[in-house]
Amino acid sequence: MSLLSASILSADFGRLAEEVQAVEAAGTDWIHVDVMDGMFVPNITIGPDVVRAIRKATRLPLDVHLMIEKPERYLDAFVDAGADWLGVHVETSPHLHRTVQRIKELGAKAVVTLNPATSLQTIETIVCEVDMVLLMTVNPGFGGQKFIRCTLPKIRQCCSMIDACATSDRPILLEVDGGVNTETIDELVEAGVDVFVAGSAVFGPGGYAERVRSLKSRMKL
Ligand code: DX5
Ligand code: ZN
Repeated sequence: MSLLSASILSADFGRLAEEVQAVEAAGTDWIHVDVMDGMFVPNITIGPDVVRAIRKATRLPLDVHLMIEKPERYLDAFVDAGADWLGVHVETSPHLHRTVQRIKELGAKAVVTLNPATSLQTIETIVCEVDMVLLMTVNPGFGGQKFIRCTLPKIRQCCSMIDACATSDRPILLEVDGGVNTETIDELVEAGVDVFVAGSAVFGPGGYAERVRSLKSRMKL
């Protein structure tokens, strides 16, 4: 079964609670929250207080994507604010095993995230410990960027890595983020992706319900 995680980066931040409720009503499965610090990525977005406000606006799982340096400083704060899934980038996490263990101890699902140019070798020894791998299909920092097609072989390979250790009792999901839209989703479905993050493809002009429906009609539900 695959899931759609709507990225609020493309929402109207002035009406964030309403926007989150609108995509929930439109049928998204999760809410994806992009946290950026202006250091690891050039952009700056939001912190735990805004995550707490989003938590109050929806019952959907919150999929929090930390694009910050030294993410271990903020794990407790984001789980306390309501993150159900909490992702750190391998590029910012020298003590990745400890960080993953801490996220799990806090009661959240642990996600490891890789930039497009980062090799799967970086997670070879930890993939069996995580709840989800997030492969970036754009360079993180901004919504509305073009899907980087040469990530497809890596996505297929990651799917095999996960299959080698996941079980039905202990599933490990594969998520992609960046440039997911009705033009690119078919190849990603074929590559074995479970969770599709989509920002501009959901929060665009026209009705969100129609946009969610056209993405989900291409996914394996
Ligand atoms: C980019 C973020 C994404 C972003 C995706 O750094 O991590 O979640 O919102 O936006 P789209 O779907 O527009 O590429
Ligand atoms: Zn993201």
